[in-house]
Amino acid sequence: MSTLILEKKRPFIQNQPGFKISTHPEHDRLYHIQLDDAVVAEFFQATTDAMPQRLQYVPYARLLMSHKLNEIAGEGFAEALRGIVNDRESGGFTIGVQNQTSNPDDFVRFGTAISHLIGIPNLDAMTGTFYARFTVKDTDSSDSYLRQAYRLFTLHTDGTFVDEPTDWLLMMKMQEQHAKGGESRILHLDDWEDLEKFSRHPLATYKMTYKSPPSKNVEQVIQRQTFYTRNNKPCMCFIDQFAHPETMEQAVYLSEMSGSLENSPATKAMPLPIGDLIVLNNHFWMHGRAPFEKNPELFRELMRQRGVFATT
Ligand SMILES: [Fe+2]
Repeated sequence: MSTLILEKKRPFIQNQPGFKISTHPEHDRLYHIQLDDAVVAEFFQATTDAMPQRLQYVPYARLLMSHKLNEIAGEGFAEALRGIVNDRESGGFTIGVQNQTSNPDDFVRFGTAISHLIGIPNLDAMTGTFYARFTVKDTDSSDSYLRQAYRLFTLHTDGTFVDEPTDWLLMMKMQEQHAKGGESRILHLDDWEDLEKFSRHPLATYKMTYKSPPSKNVEQVIQRQTFYTRNNKPCMCFIDQFAHPETMEQAVYLSEMSGSLENSPATKAMPLPIGDLIVLNNHFWMHGRAPFEKNPELFRELMRQRGVFATT
């Protein structure tokens, strides 16, 4: 399969004056997009007035970030990003600021430019705006696995407990100190050896109940099928922490499925340097996090954005 992808299904590989797209060195389903250094520099120079507060208060300022980056990167940039995220063979890419800045405010600007080229982010109920920055430290008293450093954060999709589509997600590494382990773990459904077994199971289309813990600030109760079809291919919606099965049979189904995802040889750890971000199609990619190695000084901050695809 991998060879086939490399030889025949890499339609987005290209070398333009403003950007270069190649197969990701760590995962042959993904692409890595490298912007020309001058493009990154010009983007930051051209958007100095768009600090995070302005981006938070003025929605059109977010789209102006995308407009500017697209203009500077050159023809075909937005089309390539959208094409990759919508391509079932891939569905994901990484891109970064190439060490030109380490200022988290700049990262918010850059991440916002990329996300709005893909679509519009949903409101992140945890922060009340279109993005969330969250830290992982040695100690934590939260009510979900999101910030608990030393536990495996099991493979899941985002948006399970909200009543709106979550087509894609973006995660950007903002800061990291004394961090060993803690890599993102990702799995493309078509690489999962048990996809057919679980997607054709009688419970695959049963509407499971999802509820979130208080920190998410979402009080809705949502019913969602674990498997659904999109563009004629199986897609998935699942997170172990927020699913509330009603029977032992449902619990066994979900637990065996989660175990199979975790143990799949196709589940891969993905290192992400500071200032880089990853965008994944949330319909057919699962993501999670490996545990960190114990360190009292551990500190890592990520930004996330999740949203719907652009329709124009
Ligand atoms: Fe997630």
